[in-house]
Amino acid sequence: MYRISELAEIVGLSRSTLLYYEKIGLITSKRQANGYRQFTELDVQKLRLLLQLQSGGLTLKECQDCMEAKIDREQLTQRLNALDAEIMQKEKSRALLAALLGMDSMRAWHQTLESQAPEAHLNWLMKQGFSEKQALRLKWLSKDMNAHEEYMAEFERIFEGLERLGPGSDADTQRALTMMPSLSGELLEVGCGKGVATAVIQKHSQFAITALDNDEYCLCCLKENFVSHRESGNVKTVCASMTDMPFSQHQFDVIWSEGSAYIMGVQQAIEQWKYFLKPHGLMVLSDLVWLTDAPDAKVRTYWQHHYPDMSSVAQRIQMMEQSGFKLVENYQLSPEAWKNYLQPLKTKIDQLDENTFSSNALSDIRAEIEFHNKYLGQYGYQIFILERK
Ligand SMILES: C[S@@+](CC[C@H](N)C(=O)[O-])C[C@H]1O[C@@H](n2cnc3c(N)ncnc32)[C@H](O)[C@@H]1O
Repeated sequence: MYRISELAEIVGLSRSTLLYYEKIGLITSKRQANGYRQFTELDVQKLRLLLQLQSGGLTLKECQDCMEAKIDREQLTQRLNALDAEIMQKEKSRALLAALLGMDSMRAWHQTLESQAPEAHLNWLMKQGFSEKQALRLKWLSKDMNAHEEYMAEFERIFEGLERLGPGSDADTQRALTMMPSLSGELLEVGCGKGVATAVIQKHSQFAITALDNDEYCLCCLKENFVSHRESGNVKTVCASMTDMPFSQHQFDVIWSEGSAYIMGVQQAIEQWKYFLKPHGLMVLSDLVWLTDAPDAKVRTYWQHHYPDMSSVAQRIQMMEQSGFKLVENYQLSPEAWKNYLQPLKTKIDQLDENTFSSNALSDIRAEIEFHNKYLGQYGYQIFILERK
């Protein structure tokens, strides 16, 4: 026989807990003549059984049910499933904390955040100390704040010596030029890269060209190209961000952007850039679009991760019209344009020694090339020529 204080000591529970268990009928005492409660060995064992059941994550009520009747398998299965879900959630939380502390990759986390909250993602990256240029590159290229610098260094090494940073061809650029009502005035090219389109525009028009990019190295390549091969008199370069351009209202007759507007979001780009365009000025931009309503599941998933904002041509045109533009013309970039981008890139990566790469840069680019080779046609690049209303 045990007094309540002895029972409490044996099972490691407080006196008040034991009194509560007695109240709900889990244990029963006999009163002595002096009024003290007395418990038996069976109560000790019942309490040990209860503690064992509680360690399986059962509530007190569930433990009591289990002790008083046959085990309810369904109830236990439900509890087991709930526990599994909790463990999975906890593992995710652990992985995120480890990643935030730099112990693991953050790719999946960045990708999810990018598709669910792109603006908050960018702002958060900048709060972590990344410049806007780095944050945008992290969002689109490295996708991992823990490995960003080495990824970008290797990415630049891959593209070193390559002229095109995206699909395009002289003929596709020239085709857009033929739709200009006039081939003179002021033209701004946004995200000009190394100047492949700039050179075509310069050669086939009399526009005074301002070529803007936020990458000094690209602008140096562009300048070198013009100095060595052409007159550079009507091409001026500006190193600035497309999100904050140092120009005045209505400054340009034409704004041109091949493969770059997606970086800040196509809708945001045309709405912001409109300010710099003269009334009835033209905007030429290209964007990756869906060419089918029913892409393969693999293709849909790939672009959900890499370009969540990808739209159909009709959706893009509707958005452009709602943003104050009239569609003049649109057409798909030619197969030649893709070849111009993919072939030199493939030749270059085939020459590189895989073992010297430590980040995901090379494997990402290799995977991208294979993906285009397989699935291009379900999506493609579309050039839109728009007139400011
Ligand atoms: C895919 S490349 C296209 C380059 C070029 N139009 C072509 O077709 O080869 C995107 C370009 O945008 C530039 N860029 C990225 N973020 C930018 C930003 N915030 N402001 C200005 N340029 C940016 C990159 O440096 C790069 O040159």
